[in-house]
Formats: sequence, structure tokens, C-alpha cells
Amino acid sequence: MNFMNRSNPIGFFDSGIGGLTVVKEAMRLLPNENIVYFGDTARVPYGSKSNSTVIEYTMQAARFLMKKNIKMLVVACNTASSVALDELRKEINVPVIGVIEPGAKMALDETKNGRIGVIGTYATINNKAYSSQLKKLNGKIKVFEKACPLFVPLAEEGWLDHKATHLIAREYLEEFKEHEIDTLILGCTHYPILTETISKVVGKKVKLINSGLPASYILKNYLEGRGIRSQSVQIGYHEFYVSDVPAKFKNIAERFLGRKIDNLNKIDLEDLIK
Ligand code: DGL
Repeated sequence: MNFMNRSNPIGFFDSGIGGLTVVKEAMRLLPNENIVYFGDTARVPYGSKSNSTVIEYTMQAARFLMKKNIKMLVVACNTASSVALDELRKEINVPVIGVIEPGAKMALDETKNGRIGVIGTYATINNKAYSSQLKKLNGKIKVFEKACPLFVPLAEEGWLDHKATHLIAREYLEEFKEHEIDTLILGCTHYPILTETISKVVGKKVKLINSGLPASYILKNYLEGRGIRSQSVQIGYHEFYVSDVPAKFKNIAERFLGRKIDNLNKIDLEDLIK
């Protein structure tokens, strides 16, 4: 790794608004860290695109964040984490962490009956990102997976407790009741935005896993272990970049983070691509 200043920001990346569910946990745990977030809102969703397209977009996003002198990169997107981590680690000379392994470990810690559900995008589910990770860590675990692609636009639209969201959630999630799961991994960073609706449908007894929390603990340990944790006593600065400014982004993001976003910038796709 190059010389790294402790006050350099941490980069977070997602296809849209979902990565904020990871940022929210990181802000809580590491309030004095500077954060630069990039949401590729012009090209969301990633989850229904091919692996090679997701890798290409992710590499472009990472190069953009590297120009902001980040000291670490958090891939706050399950879809990108499930296909692009190896490529990223080859090219990017700062530590890179994803959200799949932390989420899988937390689910294994939480389950009592060894029956875990996973919901995510087509890419995450078809690549078996969670099931292979879970089975690697515990061969006896029973995993039930389902792609729920419509949750992404619903979260981007801010339809958090809307009757259409409830209806779609029932259509997707009803089957988990038969599987008798006690733990459900929200394997897409957009989904924690819809926690209430999801929980109503699967039942309050099912523990929902938001990878943002364990990923933030791993981030903290990493920064401390490498001696690159910010020493500042001030609250960190937070910069947000998007490749398109959807009308509701600021509003939903602020509602979700529970704080104002003063520093929202649009970057041109052309600059990202070159
Ligand atoms: N939030 C992303 C994830 O965690 C991707 C959603 C999408 O772009 O399809 O998978």
C-alpha cells in the first residue's frame, strides 16, 4: 500500500442508494472518519446485468474513488461484491472489503435452527455468493435463496411502507414460511431500507441480517489493525457523488441516514468511463 494518511477518506460504492445502509452503520461506529460515497444512479440496477458489465462498472467506480485519495474501499453492494472483488484487489492498491462474507458470518452466529434464507439480486443469487460462503463456513447449514429484483426500484422510489411494496414482498417471501427459516440475509444493500415491510411478511421472529453492521465492524478492525484509523476528534466530512440525480435521492437518503446531506454532487458518466 502507498503512504496512507489516516485522515484520508474511506470510499463506499453502490449502484444507487443502497450502499447508504452500510454508510449509516459506519457513520455510527466511526463518526470521525471522512467518507466519500459514490452511487451509480445512472446505471442502477446492477443486479440484472451480466457479471462482465458489473465488473466493468465497478472498476470505473473504484477508479473514480481512488482519485479522491481513499485509504480503503468498501464495496457496499452485494452484486458487485459477488463478482468483482478479485478484479478490484488486483488493480486497486488500497484494502478492499465487500459485504458478503460479513453478512454470512453474522447469519451463522444468529441462526439457532441452521435454516437460513437469502434474498438478493439475480446476480447475487445466481452466482450463489451467499450459499457458497455459508456452506464453506458450515457444511451442515440449509440455505434457501430467492432473487427479489423489484425491491431495488421500490427502495430507490422511497416506497418503504407502500401497499404495492407489501404485495410484492408477500409474493416473493411467502415461501420462506414453509422453509421454516429463523434468519434471513438481506443480501442486497437496498433491502434494509424496506426492513419493516419485509419483517411484517416473514414474521417478527425471523432475524433479518443487514450486512452493513458486520461490514462496519470489519472496517473498524481493519483500520485499527493497519494503524490507519483517523485520529481526529471532529466529526468526519461526508461527500456524496451520484452519476445521475434522481428527484428523490436527496430526500430518501436524508430520511434514511437521519441527517442532512449537504454535499451531493453529480458526476458525468463520460468522466467515469474514460
Ligand atoms: N444494492 C445492490 C446490492 O447490494 C445492487 C442493487 C442493484 O443495482 O440491482 O446488490
